[in-house]
Amino acid sequence: MRILLSSLVLVASFTLFACEGRPPEVVAVPVAAVGDPYGDSDCNLQTKLVEGIPGSPGHLVASTRNPNGDSELALLMRRFVDDLRTVRPLLEAGQPVDKLWPIHHRMRCAWPTRPEERTEQYDLRAQGYLLAVRAFDEAPGRDTYNGIIAGCIACHSVSCGGPIEFIGSMKWE
Ligand code: HEC
Repeated sequence: MRILLSSLVLVASFTLFACEGRPPEVVAVPVAAVGDPYGDSDCNLQTKLVEGIPGSPGHLVASTRNPNGDSELALLMRRFVDDLRTVRPLLEAGQPVDKLWPIHHRMRCAWPTRPEERTEQYDLRAQGYLLAVRAFDEAPGRDTYNGIIAGCIACHSVSCGGPIEFIGSMKWE
């Protein structure tokens, strides 16, 4: 019963705090740049976004949970949430974890719901966040995990404040 209740609360908090709609589902991820594992030539502020792909304006990805559809960036954010939920118990159990940067760095070239929000300021905040992701990948653990959460919150306190409380609840105390 308690488990049921807490998952209900979780679902409710998503509903309340999401910016637009919901669910993660599948995010297409091109193979990361070869050479420098943290190279950003394949995805940066100058990268031209491809019109008409799933999650682009006019082509939001509809689901039963969000019939209005989600943008590519919203789906990627849901993937971030899933990734954090996956790595923490693994680390607590002393298990290895996959690197997050190869997928998370796609946030610099993913369609937001409102394309005009992909600004230089957004990109700088994304780069700051990705430094935290890189630190995590190089030394996965509680401190670097919490560094990622701080990066989520730092950006969300500027844009899309909705999920902040929910993100804060993912801190590894
Ligand atoms: C550089 C800025 C930035 C960072 C860093 C960032 N976000 Fe977001 N987030 C956004 C923006 C902008 C949106 C709105 C996306 C859209 O509507 O297309 C968003 C949307 C969301 C949503 C709502 C998704 C939905 O279903 O609509 C959640 C949940 C979320 N972010 C969680 C996170 C988490 C967890 C992290 C860290 C792991 C994180 N964000 C890091 C900018 C950021």
